Amino acid sequence: MCGIVGYIGKRPIVNTLLNGLKRLEYRGYDSAGIAVVEDDNIKLIKKPGKVSNLQNSIEIEWPGYENIEFNLGIAHTRWATHGTPVEKNAHPHIDDKQSFSVVHNGIIENYSSIKKQLIKKGHKFSSDTDSEVIAHLISELYEGDFVKAVAAALKQLHGTYGVAVISKYHNDRIIVARKGSPIVIGVGNDEMIIGSDVSALISYTRKVIYLNDNDIAILKKNDIEIIDVENIPVTRETAHIDWDPASAEKSGYDHFMLKEIFEQPESIKNAIRGRLNFETGSPILQGLGFVPKEMVELSNIVIAACGTSFYAGLVGEYYFEDLANITTEVAQAAEFRYRNPIIQPHTMVIAVSQSGETADTLAAVREAKQKGALVAGLCNTVGSTIAREAGVGVYLHAGPEIGVASTKAFTCQVVIMLMMALKFGRSHRLSRQKGLEISKEITEIPKLVEEVLKSAQEIEKIAKKYASVKNAFYIGRGYLYPVALEGALKLKEISYIHAEGYHAAELKHGPIALLEERIPVIALANDVPGKDKIIGNIQECKARKSPVIATATAGDNEIEEHADDVIWIPKCSNFINPIPTVVALQLFSYYVAKEKGCSIDQPRNLAKSVTVE
Ligand code: AGP
Repeated sequence: MCGIVGYIGKRPIVNTLLNGLKRLEYRGYDSAGIAVVEDDNIKLIKKPGKVSNLQNSIEIEWPGYENIEFNLGIAHTRWATHGTPVEKNAHPHIDDKQSFSVVHNGIIENYSSIKKQLIKKGHKFSSDTDSEVIAHLISELYEGDFVKAVAAALKQLHGTYGVAVISKYHNDRIIVARKGSPIVIGVGNDEMIIGSDVSALISYTRKVIYLNDNDIAILKKNDIEIIDVENIPVTRETAHIDWDPASAEKSGYDHFMLKEIFEQPESIKNAIRGRLNFETGSPILQGLGFVPKEMVELSNIVIAACGTSFYAGLVGEYYFEDLANITTEVAQAAEFRYRNPIIQPHTMVIAVSQSGETADTLAAVREAKQKGALVAGLCNTVGSTIAREAGVGVYLHAGPEIGVASTKAFTCQVVIMLMMALKFGRSHRLSRQKGLEISKEITEIPKLVEEVLKSAQEIEKIAKKYASVKNAFYIGRGYLYPVALEGALKLKEISYIHAEGYHAAELKHGPIALLEERIPVIALANDVPGKDKIIGNIQECKARKSPVIATATAGDNEIEEHADDVIWIPKCSNFINPIPTVVALQLFSYYVAKEKGCSIDQPRNLAKSVTVE
């Protein structure tokens, strides 16, 4: 998820673009750049780091830029997916004839095959990104008609894009297009401003047009034409925005955490995108760089992580043992280097970290490397230290996670470990048929999460009922045991309620002594193996007068006889249940914290990335 801005009009172009970028910086902040057309030349500057770093460089490299009459410009703030966050991979990108410059938000799945063809035709590429192919492809297809060349190029792209294109041959227009990634156009007086979302443009105009997928818009100072990739004109509504800039960055949600919870259908689609293979039933995870022989030889897997990533690792443990038949353990990363772990020649260590900067997980990577393990990183931040030091791995593509309480990173970590286990399983004992079935179920996960999000209001009602408690228990079994632990962590870290997660069978070995009417129990009683046992545990809790909130599979009304409140989860396979269920628990903890008026995005005493031991 990156931020795109474009402007054509009478205002000082560079400042207008920089202000837009600052508004979109929450979408990505590892590098930024600007390209403007001055007469029949494209001037471009891009730098690693935050927008402020780009601004400082512009002040040095483009002295007096405020007074230069540029015709128009585009800009970008990046959240890397392909190519580490260094200057050459920052946007805008430009073709080697310096004729067309693009800024892109999204993922081009077939970029490497297009790149190969263009290199054969003599194009010289200067970055490792997927996005750069767009500029070269337009240049390759250009025969004097800018719009035609852009449309023809877009037709060849597989994947997602929100893209803005400028050309030195056409200094009176910007072309923008959308498929899968958002583009909004702000219609002003004698000016047009575009953005990945309204926060980039609402300080200039409240009149906006949202592009739909496959739309291409040609913007001039006071004219806008919208067509589809077949060059057929289309009309789009003009909407009026009445948000203030701050809430715009949250797309109208009260908190980044809630926004990120509701982004999960999309972030999971991005984590899956271009990675499922419906020929072999074995996912394509190029970043792992494993050959089948290495996967077959894997003796065991150790997942090293902290906090929420550790709990995602616990779900991964079930997947690797269940689907790939590989002995797996999950190690507290902070303990890993001190307990002298046994690493065999074919041990794989997977370091799971959203930020890719957690000190204890990084130390585990270094210890594992020291001991000769095969090390892979499962990170969200491209180019982060853990990703770089691990050397191989898989990126989440969840987009930036701003809320300190991790939500969409957890579900993407779980989905990717499911795809890793499926890949290893297919090189072990899993049949092609089974691989295809599981791949199909993975594509249905975003829909299941959408179903849960639709019941947000019901979950809020239940949450309000329990917001005044001081303590709470979460219990689960099987695949839902780690989800009970994660649910308790979410409630703890944003509502400051002392919540503990337990394997349901553990209650009788001590914790049940604490139960009484003021301590609610959240029991994960979905219709999966072990449900009867959980119902027994619910009755034990009820016998101690603890109120019980149960998650249950839609249609399984039996649970209503046992629990005080029920949160319904759409029906799905046992191994898929952790994902929709954790989303319900994320919402529950969010609404409890909201009812208590807690500072949800920046909870006390916590940091988004723990870079100290
Ligand atoms: C989760 O909500 C917390 N922010 C915290 O437990 C976090 O998961 C932990 O610090 C690990 O962070 P990482 O995934 O960036 O390594």
